[in-house]
Amino acid sequence: GEETPEEREFQDRIDRGEKIEPKEWMPAGYRKTLIRQISQHAHSEIVGQLPEGNWITRAPTLERKQILLAKVQDEAGHGLYLYSAAETLGISRDEMYEQLHSGKAKYSSIFNYPTLTWADMGAVGWLVDGAAIMNQVPLQRTSYGPYSRAMIRICKEESFHQRQGYHIMMKMARGTEAQREMAQDALNRFWYPALMMFGPSDANSVHSEQSMAWKIKINTNDELRQRFVNETVPQAEFLGLEVPDPDLAWNEEKGGYDFSQPDWDEFFEVLKGNGPCNKERLGARVKAWEDGAWFRDGLTAYAEKASARRAA
Ligand code: ACO
Repeated sequence: GEETPEEREFQDRIDRGEKIEPKEWMPAGYRKTLIRQISQHAHSEIVGQLPEGNWITRAPTLERKQILLAKVQDEAGHGLYLYSAAETLGISRDEMYEQLHSGKAKYSSIFNYPTLTWADMGAVGWLVDGAAIMNQVPLQRTSYGPYSRAMIRICKEESFHQRQGYHIMMKMARGTEAQREMAQDALNRFWYPALMMFGPSDANSVHSEQSMAWKIKINTNDELRQRFVNETVPQAEFLGLEVPDPDLAWNEEKGGYDFSQPDWDEFFEVLKGNGPCNKERLGARVKAWEDGAWFRDGLTAYAEKASARRAA
Protein backbone atom coordinates (compact mmCIF):
# COMPACT_ATOMS: atom_id res chain seq x y z
CA GLY A 1 0.00 0.00 0.00
CA GLU A 2 0.84 3.71 0.14
CA GLU A 3 3.60 4.71 2.51
CA THR A 4 2.29 6.82 5.41
CA PRO A 5 4.19 9.90 6.68
CA GLU A 6 5.11 7.97 9.82
CA GLU A 7 6.54 5.12 7.77
CA ARG A 8 8.51 7.58 5.62
CA GLU A 9 9.99 9.25 8.68
CA PHE A 10 10.81 5.90 10.23
CA GLN A 11 12.65 4.78 7.08
CA ASP A 12 14.53 8.10 7.02
CA ARG A 13 15.72 7.50 10.56
CA ILE A 14 16.89 4.02 9.60
CA ASP A 15 18.65 5.37 6.52
CA ARG A 16 20.43 7.99 8.64
CA GLY A 17 21.74 5.17 10.84
CA GLU A 18 19.73 6.10 13.93
CA LYS A 19 18.92 3.43 16.48
CA ILE A 20 15.26 2.68 17.19
CA GLU A 21 14.45 2.42 20.89
CA PRO A 22 11.67 0.42 22.62
CA LYS A 23 9.04 3.11 23.29
CA GLU A 24 9.37 4.76 19.89
CA TRP A 25 6.95 4.39 17.00
CA MET A 26 7.74 1.56 14.61
CA PRO A 27 5.84 -0.20 11.82
CA ALA A 28 4.01 -3.35 12.93
CA GLY A 29 6.06 -5.40 10.47
CA TYR A 30 9.34 -4.13 11.92
CA ARG A 31 8.21 -5.10 15.42
CA LYS A 32 7.03 -8.52 14.24
CA THR A 33 10.23 -9.26 12.34
CA LEU A 34 12.37 -8.32 15.32
CA ILE A 35 10.31 -10.43 17.70
CA ARG A 36 10.67 -13.37 15.32
CA GLN A 37 14.40 -13.00 14.81
CA ILE A 38 15.39 -12.11 18.37
CA SER A 39 13.23 -14.82 19.94
CA GLN A 40 14.55 -17.44 17.50
CA HIS A 41 18.02 -16.28 18.36
CA ALA A 42 17.29 -16.56 22.09
CA HIS A 43 15.84 -20.05 21.63
CA SER A 44 18.99 -21.03 19.72
CA GLU A 45 21.19 -19.98 22.61
CA ILE A 46 19.07 -21.94 25.07
CA VAL A 47 18.73 -25.11 22.98
CA GLY A 48 22.38 -24.66 22.02
CA GLN A 49 23.40 -25.57 25.54
CA LEU A 50 22.28 -29.16 25.02
CA PRO A 51 24.81 -30.55 22.51
CA GLU A 52 27.69 -29.28 24.64
CA GLY A 53 26.05 -30.00 27.97
CA ASN A 54 26.23 -33.59 26.77
CA TRP A 55 30.02 -33.55 27.30
CA ILE A 56 30.43 -31.69 30.60
CA THR A 57 30.52 -34.91 32.61
CA ARG A 58 32.98 -36.48 30.18
CA ALA A 59 35.47 -33.67 29.53
CA PRO A 60 38.98 -35.16 29.43
CA THR A 61 40.51 -32.94 32.14
CA LEU A 62 39.32 -30.79 35.03
CA GLU A 63 40.47 -27.68 33.16
CA ARG A 64 38.51 -28.61 30.02
CA LYS A 65 35.49 -29.28 32.18
CA GLN A 66 35.69 -25.84 33.81
CA ILE A 67 36.04 -24.14 30.43
CA LEU A 68 33.13 -26.04 28.91
CA LEU A 69 30.94 -25.39 31.93
CA ALA A 70 31.68 -21.66 31.73
CA LYS A 71 30.94 -21.62 28.02
CA VAL A 72 27.60 -23.38 28.38
CA GLN A 73 26.67 -20.96 31.17
CA ASP A 74 27.53 -18.08 28.82
CA GLU A 75 25.03 -19.47 26.30
CA ALA A 76 22.33 -19.47 28.98
CA GLY A 77 23.20 -15.85 29.72
CA HIS A 78 22.96 -14.93 26.02
CA GLY A 79 19.54 -16.55 25.84
CA LEU A 80 18.21 -14.63 28.85
CA TYR A 81 19.71 -11.39 27.57
CA LEU A 82 18.04 -11.86 24.18
CA TYR A 83 14.68 -12.79 25.73
CA SER A 84 14.89 -9.48 27.62
CA ALA A 85 15.61 -7.63 24.36
CA ALA A 86 12.56 -9.29 22.75
CA GLU A 87 10.38 -8.41 25.76
CA THR A 88 11.01 -4.70 25.09
CA LEU A 89 8.92 -5.20 21.92
CA GLY A 90 5.84 -6.28 23.84
CA ILE A 91 5.97 -10.08 23.89
CA SER A 92 6.18 -11.88 27.24
CA ARG A 93 8.74 -14.49 28.13
CA ASP A 94 5.95 -16.99 28.81
CA GLU A 95 4.65 -16.50 25.27
CA MET A 96 8.11 -17.09 23.84
CA TYR A 97 8.61 -20.22 25.93
CA GLU A 98 5.23 -21.46 24.85
CA GLN A 99 6.18 -20.95 21.19
CA LEU A 100 9.39 -22.90 21.71
CA HIS A 101 7.86 -25.73 23.72
CA SER A 102 4.93 -26.21 21.34
CA GLY A 103 7.31 -26.47 18.38
CA LYS A 104 5.90 -23.31 16.78
CA ALA A 105 9.09 -21.26 17.08
CA LYS A 106 12.25 -22.05 15.19
CA TYR A 107 15.74 -22.27 16.63
CA SER A 108 18.98 -22.77 14.74
CA SER A 109 19.08 -25.96 12.66
CA ILE A 110 22.63 -26.70 13.85
CA PHE A 111 21.54 -27.77 17.31
CA ASN A 112 19.60 -30.71 15.91
CA TYR A 113 22.83 -32.57 15.14
CA PRO A 114 24.40 -34.93 17.69
CA THR A 115 27.76 -34.43 19.43
CA LEU A 116 29.32 -37.88 19.28
CA THR A 117 32.93 -37.44 20.43
CA TRP A 118 35.07 -35.00 22.41
CA ALA A 119 36.39 -33.65 19.10
CA ASP A 120 32.86 -32.42 18.45
CA MET A 121 33.34 -29.94 21.30
CA GLY A 122 36.23 -28.57 19.27
CA ALA A 123 34.24 -28.51 16.03
CA VAL A 124 31.25 -26.84 17.69
CA GLY A 125 33.37 -24.08 19.20
CA TRP A 126 35.42 -23.59 16.06
CA LEU A 127 32.73 -23.89 13.37
CA VAL A 128 29.38 -23.30 15.08
CA ASP A 129 30.48 -20.40 17.25
CA GLY A 130 32.65 -19.24 14.35
CA ALA A 131 29.59 -19.09 12.10
CA ALA A 132 27.57 -17.43 14.87
CA ILE A 133 30.19 -14.67 15.18
CA MET A 134 30.33 -14.16 11.42
CA ASN A 135 26.57 -13.56 11.52
CA GLN A 136 26.49 -11.56 14.75
CA VAL A 137 29.37 -9.12 14.33
CA PRO A 138 27.45 -7.19 11.63
CA LEU A 139 24.33 -7.40 13.83
CA GLN A 140 26.11 -5.15 16.34
CA ARG A 141 25.07 -2.42 13.87
CA THR A 142 21.46 -3.60 13.63
CA SER A 143 18.90 -0.79 13.82
CA TYR A 144 17.10 -1.84 17.01
CA GLY A 145 18.99 -0.45 20.02
CA PRO A 146 18.50 -3.25 22.58
CA TYR A 147 19.38 -5.97 20.03
CA SER A 148 22.43 -4.07 18.86
CA ARG A 149 23.72 -3.64 22.41
CA ALA A 150 23.06 -7.30 23.21
CA MET A 151 25.14 -8.29 20.17
CA ILE A 152 28.13 -6.26 21.31
CA ARG A 153 28.38 -8.10 24.57
CA ILE A 154 27.51 -11.49 23.13
CA CYS A 155 30.14 -11.25 20.38
CA LYS A 156 32.88 -10.73 22.95
CA GLU A 157 31.95 -13.96 24.67
CA GLU A 158 31.45 -15.82 21.38
CA SER A 159 35.01 -14.96 20.37
CA PHE A 160 36.29 -16.70 23.48
CA HIS A 161 34.07 -19.69 22.66
CA GLN A 162 35.43 -19.89 19.15
CA ARG A 163 39.02 -19.77 20.43
CA GLN A 164 38.45 -22.53 22.97
CA GLY A 165 36.97 -24.71 20.23
CA TYR A 166 39.90 -24.11 17.93
CA HIS A 167 42.27 -24.89 20.78
CA ILE A 168 40.60 -28.28 21.29
CA MET A 169 40.94 -28.90 17.54
CA MET A 170 44.67 -28.06 17.66
CA LYS A 171 45.22 -30.50 20.49
CA MET A 172 43.30 -33.24 18.74
CA ALA A 173 44.74 -32.63 15.28
CA ARG A 174 48.28 -32.80 16.66
CA GLY A 175 47.63 -35.67 19.05
CA THR A 176 47.69 -39.40 18.37
CA GLU A 177 46.53 -40.80 15.04
CA ALA A 178 43.22 -41.77 16.66
CA GLN A 179 42.74 -38.22 17.94
CA ARG A 180 43.56 -36.75 14.54
CA GLU A 181 40.95 -39.03 12.99
CA MET A 182 38.37 -37.90 15.54
CA ALA A 183 39.12 -34.27 14.66
CA GLN A 184 38.75 -34.97 10.93
CA ASP A 185 35.52 -36.89 11.53
CA ALA A 186 34.10 -33.97 13.56
CA LEU A 187 34.97 -31.55 10.75
CA ASN A 188 33.36 -33.90 8.22
CA ARG A 189 30.10 -34.01 10.16
CA PHE A 190 29.87 -30.33 11.13
CA TRP A 191 31.02 -28.61 7.94
CA TYR A 192 27.77 -28.59 5.98
CA PRO A 193 25.46 -28.11 8.99
CA ALA A 194 27.63 -25.06 9.88
CA LEU A 195 27.13 -23.67 6.35
CA MET A 196 23.37 -24.13 6.82
CA MET A 197 23.40 -21.84 9.86
CA PHE A 198 23.44 -18.77 7.59
CA GLY A 199 20.01 -19.67 6.27
CA PRO A 200 18.74 -20.58 2.80
CA SER A 201 20.33 -19.19 -0.35
CA ASP A 202 19.47 -15.56 -1.07
CA ALA A 203 17.01 -16.72 -3.74
CA ASN A 204 15.06 -18.63 -1.07
CA SER A 205 15.43 -16.18 1.79
CA VAL A 206 11.94 -14.74 2.21
CA HIS A 207 12.82 -12.09 4.79
CA SER A 208 16.21 -10.76 3.66
CA GLU A 209 15.08 -7.92 1.41
CA GLN A 210 12.73 -6.21 3.88
CA SER A 211 14.98 -6.99 6.86
CA MET A 212 17.93 -5.38 5.09
CA ALA A 213 15.89 -2.31 4.12
CA TRP A 214 15.10 -1.92 7.83
CA LYS A 215 18.73 -2.69 8.74
CA ILE A 216 17.55 -5.51 10.97
CA LYS A 217 19.90 -7.63 8.87
CA ILE A 218 23.07 -6.07 7.49
CA ASN A 219 24.18 -8.79 5.06
CA THR A 220 22.55 -11.45 2.95
CA ASN A 221 22.78 -15.11 3.93
CA ASP A 222 25.06 -15.96 0.99
CA GLU A 223 27.43 -13.07 1.69
CA LEU A 224 28.03 -14.26 5.22
CA ARG A 225 28.33 -17.91 4.17
CA GLN A 226 31.03 -16.92 1.66
CA ARG A 227 32.90 -14.92 4.31
CA PHE A 228 32.77 -17.86 6.67
CA VAL A 229 34.23 -20.23 4.08
CA ASN A 230 36.97 -17.74 3.19
CA GLU A 231 37.98 -17.41 6.80
CA THR A 232 37.64 -21.05 7.86
CA VAL A 233 39.44 -22.90 5.06
CA PRO A 234 42.90 -21.52 6.00
CA GLN A 235 42.16 -22.45 9.62
CA ALA A 236 41.46 -26.04 8.55
CA GLU A 237 44.70 -26.03 6.55
CA PHE A 238 46.61 -24.84 9.60
CA LEU A 239 45.17 -27.79 11.52
CA GLY A 240 46.20 -30.16 8.74
CA LEU A 241 42.59 -31.21 8.28
CA GLU A 242 40.64 -31.51 5.06
CA VAL A 243 37.41 -29.65 4.39
CA PRO A 244 35.01 -32.35 3.12
CA ASP A 245 34.31 -30.66 -0.21
CA PRO A 246 36.04 -31.97 -3.37
CA ASP A 247 34.94 -28.86 -5.25
CA LEU A 248 36.51 -26.40 -2.86
CA ALA A 249 38.85 -24.13 -4.84
CA TRP A 250 40.28 -20.63 -4.55
CA ASN A 251 38.75 -18.29 -7.10
CA GLU A 252 41.21 -15.50 -7.77
CA GLU A 253 38.70 -13.42 -9.69
CA LYS A 254 36.16 -13.17 -6.87
CA GLY A 255 38.82 -13.21 -4.16
CA GLY A 256 37.11 -16.08 -2.37
CA TYR A 257 36.62 -19.82 -2.45
CA ASP A 258 34.22 -21.67 -4.68
CA PHE A 259 32.50 -24.30 -2.58
CA SER A 260 29.66 -26.84 -2.66
CA GLN A 261 26.29 -25.90 -1.21
CA PRO A 262 24.90 -27.92 1.67
CA ASP A 263 22.04 -30.34 1.00
CA TRP A 264 19.12 -27.91 1.14
CA ASP A 265 16.53 -30.70 1.26
CA GLU A 266 18.15 -31.85 4.49
CA PHE A 267 18.06 -28.27 5.80
CA PHE A 268 14.32 -27.90 5.19
CA GLU A 269 13.66 -31.31 6.76
CA VAL A 270 15.53 -30.21 9.89
CA LEU A 271 13.43 -27.02 9.98
CA LYS A 272 10.29 -29.14 9.78
CA GLY A 273 11.36 -31.06 12.89
CA ASN A 274 12.83 -34.09 11.15
CA GLY A 275 16.54 -33.64 11.91
CA PRO A 276 18.55 -36.26 13.80
CA CYS A 277 17.96 -34.74 17.27
CA ASN A 278 14.92 -32.41 16.97
CA LYS A 279 12.69 -34.54 19.20
CA GLU A 280 15.40 -35.10 21.77
CA ARG A 281 16.27 -31.38 21.98
CA LEU A 282 12.70 -30.15 22.27
CA GLY A 283 11.90 -32.99 24.68
CA ALA A 284 14.77 -31.92 26.94
CA ARG A 285 13.54 -28.31 27.00
CA VAL A 286 9.95 -29.30 27.72
CA LYS A 287 11.07 -31.65 30.50
CA ALA A 288 13.23 -28.92 32.06
CA TRP A 289 10.23 -26.57 31.98
CA GLU A 290 7.89 -29.10 33.54
CA ASP A 291 10.43 -30.20 36.15
CA GLY A 292 10.81 -26.55 37.16
CA ALA A 293 7.08 -26.01 37.76
CA TRP A 294 7.32 -26.55 41.54
CA PHE A 295 10.01 -23.88 41.73
CA ARG A 296 8.07 -21.31 39.70
CA ASP A 297 4.98 -22.06 41.84
CA GLY A 298 7.04 -21.47 44.97
CA LEU A 299 8.38 -18.18 43.69
CA THR A 300 4.91 -16.98 42.72
CA ALA A 301 3.39 -18.01 46.06
CA TYR A 302 6.18 -16.21 47.89
CA ALA A 303 5.78 -13.05 45.79
CA GLU A 304 2.02 -13.03 46.42
CA LYS A 305 2.49 -13.42 50.18
CA ALA A 306 5.10 -10.69 50.25
CA SER A 307 2.92 -8.24 48.32
CA ALA A 308 -0.12 -9.07 50.54
CA ARG A 309 2.05 -8.37 53.57
CA ARG A 310 3.13 -5.03 52.09
CA ALA A 311 -0.47 -4.08 51.33
CA ALA A 312 -1.63 -4.96 54.89
N1 ACO B 1 17.95 -22.68 11.34
C1 ACO B 1 16.61 -22.61 11.54
N2 ACO B 1 15.81 -21.78 10.83
C2 ACO B 1 16.40 -21.01 9.89
C3 ACO B 1 17.77 -21.03 9.64
C4 ACO B 1 18.56 -21.90 10.42
N3 ACO B 1 19.88 -22.03 10.24
N4 ACO B 1 18.03 -20.15 8.66
C5 ACO B 1 16.87 -19.60 8.29
N5 ACO B 1 15.86 -20.13 9.02
C6 ACO B 1 14.45 -19.87 8.87
C7 ACO B 1 14.08 -18.44 9.16
O1 ACO B 1 13.92 -18.25 10.55
C8 ACO B 1 12.82 -18.26 8.37
O2 ACO B 1 11.75 -18.92 9.04
P1 ACO B 1 10.42 -18.15 9.60
O3 ACO B 1 9.91 -17.30 8.50
O4 ACO B 1 9.51 -19.23 10.00
O5 ACO B 1 10.88 -17.35 10.76
C9 ACO B 1 13.10 -19.09 7.14
O6 ACO B 1 14.10 -20.04 7.52
C10 ACO B 1 13.55 -18.30 5.93
O7 ACO B 1 14.87 -17.78 6.09
P2 ACO B 1 15.26 -16.24 5.89
O8 ACO B 1 14.19 -15.54 5.13
O9 ACO B 1 16.62 -16.15 5.36
O10 ACO B 1 15.19 -15.76 7.42
P3 ACO B 1 15.95 -14.58 8.16
O11 ACO B 1 15.94 -13.34 7.37
O12 ACO B 1 15.41 -14.51 9.55
O13 ACO B 1 17.50 -15.07 8.21
C11 ACO B 1 19.04 -15.78 9.92
C12 ACO B 1 17.88 -16.18 8.99
C13 ACO B 1 20.26 -15.41 9.08
C14 ACO B 1 19.37 -16.96 10.83
C15 ACO B 1 18.61 -14.53 10.74
O14 ACO B 1 17.40 -14.79 11.39
C16 ACO B 1 19.61 -14.09 11.77
O15 ACO B 1 20.61 -13.47 11.45
N6 ACO B 1 19.33 -14.37 13.07
C17 ACO B 1 20.13 -13.95 14.19
C18 ACO B 1 21.23 -14.90 14.51
C19 ACO B 1 20.75 -16.23 15.07
O16 ACO B 1 19.59 -16.48 15.30
N7 ACO B 1 21.68 -17.11 15.33
C20 ACO B 1 21.33 -18.39 15.97
C21 ACO B 1 22.38 -19.41 15.82
S1 ACO B 1 23.92 -19.00 16.55
C22 ACO B 1 23.86 -19.36 18.18
O17 ACO B 1 22.90 -19.26 18.78
C23 ACO B 1 25.10 -19.83 18.90
